[in-house]
Amino acid sequence: MKKKLHLGILGLGTVGTGVVELLLKRKQMLGDCRVILERIAVRQKRKKRSVSLPANLLTTNPEDILEDPKIDTVIEVIGGVSPAREIILEALRRRKNVVTANKALLARAGSEIFKEAMENDCYLGVRASNIASYRLIESLSFSPSRISKLIGVFNGTCNYILTEMERKGEDFSTVLKKAQEMGYTEKDPSDDIDGYDTAHKLIVLLGLSLGYFPTLDSILIEGIRRVSSQDVIFAKELGYRIKLLAIAKTQTNNLEVRVHPALLHRDKGLARLEGIENGIELRDEVGLEIGMQAPGAGKYPTATAILEDLICIARGRKLTFPPEKRKLSLRPMGKIKTQYYLRFSALDEAGVLAKISGILGQHGISIKSVLQKGRDERKAKSVPVIMLTHEAKEEDLQKALKNIDNLPVVKEKSVLIRVEEGIF
Ligand SMILES: NC(=O)c1ccc[n+]([C@@H]2O[C@H](COP(=O)([O-])OP(=O)(O)OC[C@H]3O[C@@H](n4cnc5c(N)ncnc54)[C@H](OP(=O)(O)O)[C@@H]3O)[C@@H](O)[C@H]2O)c1
Repeated sequence: MKKKLHLGILGLGTVGTGVVELLLKRKQMLGDCRVILERIAVRQKRKKRSVSLPANLLTTNPEDILEDPKIDTVIEVIGGVSPAREIILEALRRRKNVVTANKALLARAGSEIFKEAMENDCYLGVRASNIASYRLIESLSFSPSRISKLIGVFNGTCNYILTEMERKGEDFSTVLKKAQEMGYTEKDPSDDIDGYDTAHKLIVLLGLSLGYFPTLDSILIEGIRRVSSQDVIFAKELGYRIKLLAIAKTQTNNLEVRVHPALLHRDKGLARLEGIENGIELRDEVGLEIGMQAPGAGKYPTATAILEDLICIARGRKLTFPPEKRKLSLRPMGKIKTQYYLRFSALDEAGVLAKISGILGQHGISIKSVLQKGRDERKAKSVPVIMLTHEAKEEDLQKALKNIDNLPVVKEKSVLIRVEEGIF
C-alpha cells in the first residue's frame, strides 16, 4: 500500500464537500495511507463553505492542480463536459491518477478518456459515476464474460416520482414539484426525468464491460414525462409497476440498448424498489446472474465510492478496461421484440374492440389480455381500453398504432409502454 496520496480536488460542491468531510473525519487516513489535501479548485473562492479549510488550499485555477508535480491523484467533481474533459485528459497526460463522478462526461468521452488513462498507465476511478452499481463496476471490467442482459433503475428522482404516483394516485407534475421541494432533483430536472442521467450511467457500464460506448443519439432515450397516473394505476391492476429502466442485451455481435419507462412484474426484483432506491440486475453470457440495490445519489454515498477508488490507487491497483474486441452493431429500435402495454381512448360503442384488435392482428400482434374501463365522464363517450400484447416487433407495433390512431372511434393518441422481463 502506498504511504501517501497527494490529492488535488476539482470542485467543492455536494460531492467534493462529502469527500473532504469523510477524509477529515478519518483524519486523512485510508488504511495505512495518508491522504494529503494539496489543492482544491472551485469557481468562487469567497463562497461560504460548510467545511473549514485553510484559505491557501482553495484556488480558482485548475492549472494549479495540473501543474503541481506533488499532486499524483486528481478528483474531478465539477461536473459538465467542458472544461472537465480537458482537465481530466491533461491530468492523465501528466500521469496523475484520476477519479471522477462525471457520468455525463464519461458517456460522451469515455472511450477517449479510458484510452488516455491506459496509454499513461494511470488509474481511472469511475465508481462514483454510477453508485447504483459501483460494487459491480470492477467485476464488469475484469470479467472475461460479456453481459448478455442488464436492466437497471438508475435514477432516484424518477423512481421516487413513479412510486409516489402509484401510492397517492397523484399526477406527474404534482409529484415532480414535491421531489424538487425535497431536494431530490435539480432546479432543471430534465436530465433526470427525460432519461438522460439513466442513459449516461448505462453507457458508462457498457463501456466498462464491452469496451464500447454507444453514443447518446444512437439509442432510444424516453423519460417519464408522459407517464400518466392512469397508466400507473392500470399497470398496478394488471400486476405490474412502471419503472424507468436502462436496458442492454447482447446477442452475438448485436447490442440492444434503450432507456424508457417499462412495466415490470410488481413482485419481482427491481419492481420492488421504492422511492429514491436504485438497483441493477445482470446476466452474463455464461448465465451468471448478479444484482444489487443501492442509493442512486447523495453526498456521502457518492463520496464513499470516490474513497473506494482512492483505496484502489493506494493499493497500486491497475486500470483494467476491455478493448473493443468484436465490432458490435446496435440493433435498430424497430427490430427489437418485446411485450407491450397499450392504452386506447375509444368510443364506447359496439365493435370498437374488434376494430382495434383486427388492426393489431393484421400486423401479427396477438393480445394477451384486455382491460376495459367504464366511461370517463369528462371525455364524452370515450373509455380507456387497455391491452397487453404478447411479444411483438416494435416496427409492427408502431405501424399498427398509426392505423389505430386514424380510426374515427379512437379519440386520443394511443399510449404505448413496453413490458420488460426482469432477471430476478
Ligand atoms: N450530487 C450527487 O449526489 C452526485 C451523485 C453522483 C454523481 N455526481 C456527479 O458529481 C459531479 C459533481 O456534482 P455536485 O452535485 O457535487 O455538483 P455541485 O454541487 O454543483 O458542485 C460543483 C463544484 O464544482 C465547482 N466548479 C464548477 N465549475 C468549475 C470550474 N470550471 N473550475 C473550478 N471549479 C468549478 C463549483 O465551484 P463553486 O462551489 O465555487 O461554485 C462547485 O464547488 C457531477 O459530475 C455529478 O454528475 C453527483
